[in-house]
Amino acid sequence: MHAKSFYAAGLSALIAATVGTTAIAAEVNIYSYRQPDLIAPLLDAFTEETGIKTNVLFLKKGLVERLKAEGENSPADVIMTTDIGRLSGAKSEGVTQPVENEAINGAIPGSYRDPEGHWFGLTTRGRVIYASKDRVDQDTITYEELADPKWKGKICIRSGQHAYNVALIASMISHLGEEKAETWLASVKDNLARKPGGNDRAQAKGVFAGECDLGIGNTYYVGLMMTNEKEPEQKEWANSIKVLFPNTGDRGTHVNISGMALAKNAPNRDDAIKLMEFLASPKGQEIYAEQVFEYPVDPNAKASDIVNSFGKIKPDTLGLDEIAKNRAAASELVDKVGFNN
Ligand SMILES: [Fe+2]
Repeated sequence: MHAKSFYAAGLSALIAATVGTTAIAAEVNIYSYRQPDLIAPLLDAFTEETGIKTNVLFLKKGLVERLKAEGENSPADVIMTTDIGRLSGAKSEGVTQPVENEAINGAIPGSYRDPEGHWFGLTTRGRVIYASKDRVDQDTITYEELADPKWKGKICIRSGQHAYNVALIASMISHLGEEKAETWLASVKDNLARKPGGNDRAQAKGVFAGECDLGIGNTYYVGLMMTNEKEPEQKEWANSIKVLFPNTGDRGTHVNISGMALAKNAPNRDDAIKLMEFLASPKGQEIYAEQVFEYPVDPNAKASDIVNSFGKIKPDTLGLDEIAKNRAAASELVDKVGFNN
């Protein structure tokens, strides 16, 4: 028992030192893959409203491994991360616990949360087409159309094994079935302008540089490029593209989530759930969405003006838990068609 408290206290002190705060009675410890400055306004608003302090431990990788290693001594209460792959992975690795809460479930549509309550989406990001303003006339597109030979040598995309693309391909498997999804993916590969690589912003840069007419990327990067004072050339990349939201005319655009989960051994469970209720509330969603250039999951909450300037998104309503189930098959398909070769 002594050893346990000592260990937990040591980690709490480490967290406190990381953010320069002193531990007080009511507090919640957050393990986050999201950078501290992105979630700070949200957490400040929570503390202002409830008096509950938050401590953030920012991790670049190894969050689940760390939780597993800490086991029941873990000081972690709430996990914040992006991507269904990471959220569902945290559940399957056994580092989360279910939350059954009326306020949270009321604010988050069913397609954006785990049916068993192990993870919850707070904001969404669309996987969209960055189309050259100069070289692409059309203003609508479908994912299926990316396989059309008319785009031969014109499409840029990051690695097919990146979580963002794995989720997109998993959604194609859900909608088309595995066989048709394979044909589709092989045809998209045939249309690539270059070997998959770089991050999403590099695909916008490729369009700007004339290497491709279509790039595939997430919506929030457009906001990040448009407002990038550190690397102002990114504003030019953003300015060279228009955002096309695929499948607006039918099932809608594939979206992924950023979200939260309650850590399995949360020592401050009650306060952690208060934080989760706040994050899920329309107010919490709007503060968060504004900060990260994403869309609140609650259709009644508003996205920022910059995000709205991309155009209107109609999100695919396919449940994220369905996408999670097809991730392994999607990853295999990427290898099978030699997408990255
Ligand atoms: Fe990203």
